[in-house]
Amino acid sequence: MDITNIVERINTLKKEKNAIILAHNYQPEEIQRIADFMGDSLELCIKAKETDADIIVFCGVDFMAETAKILNKDKKVLMPEIINTECPMAHQLPPEIIENAKKQHPNAKVVIYVNTLASAKALADATCTSANADKIVNSFEENEILFGPDQNLGYYVKKRTDKKIIGIPEDGHCYVHKKFTVDDVVNIKKQYPNAEVLVHPECNPEVQDIADYIYSTSGMVKHVLSSDNDEFVIGTECDMITRLKIELEKLGKTKKLIPLRKDAICEPMKQITLEKVEKCLVEEKYEITLDDEIIEKAKKAIEYMLNVK
Ligand code: 13P
Ligand code: SF4
Repeated sequence: MDITNIVERINTLKKEKNAIILAHNYQPEEIQRIADFMGDSLELCIKAKETDADIIVFCGVDFMAETAKILNKDKKVLMPEIINTECPMAHQLPPEIIENAKKQHPNAKVVIYVNTLASAKALADATCTSANADKIVNSFEENEILFGPDQNLGYYVKKRTDKKIIGIPEDGHCYVHKKFTVDDVVNIKKQYPNAEVLVHPECNPEVQDIADYIYSTSGMVKHVLSSDNDEFVIGTECDMITRLKIELEKLGKTKKLIPLRKDAICEPMKQITLEKVEKCLVEEKYEITLDDEIIEKAKKAIEYMLNVK
């Protein structure tokens, strides 16, 4: 494949069609290098809301593209691939579980992770991301909060609130972050005693407890770029290191970045390629479509989150 030519064609198509490419921090390097905007889930929501492009090409997983559509009802939101790009965690909280939990806890507020389907968001009082989950939970006066699907993020929130957090479902998790163990952290600290260990709040509680810092992916970028230290262990999906390297490259810096596990790969994130991005811009597919009523209800939950200061 001639990378220069394909990148040029993508750039020409983007200009012709007034399109923007948004990509999550776990995308493969070839996608990170052509994206107009890279970010974590919260930053991508904000960018999707602010853009004046006519077409949003979303390089990430299903719930992220849906969120962009919810915030841009009248724009064309496309994903370069729709097969095998589902985030498994997002499918662990179907609307029925929320409906049942609401019946059992009528006084509780519903705060759900943005890693959920639009139909689940439509039943929530607010969404949250890993960058703001504790802030969103604490923004409510009610004492009981139905929270899901990720119960490791639930653990992170419980340590930062006095409210009663009720997990829905009780065992919601991310298969990638679930892999990290205490032994991984202990062993890597022996190997790299000067490195700071940064982990994502989707990691297991015992891993969170022995890490040096717990951050969303944007938090990791801020920390690594601003720290005086130059050795870090990254406890999240492996292409986070690609994002960090690209940011450091822009500043003319290099730092030692060590993956906590080399097999922490989110397969749904790896389905997007440069060829698929070009095809997506040419054929204007695959388009994300959602029911109007779902969009209106889900938008309220996302906007609540975006308005919490
Ligand atoms: P961030 O919002 O921290 O990027 O996390 C999204 C995600 O899916 C982590 O697995
Ligand atoms: Fe979903 Fe986990 Fe992949 Fe994040 S890393 S998109 S939570 S499967």
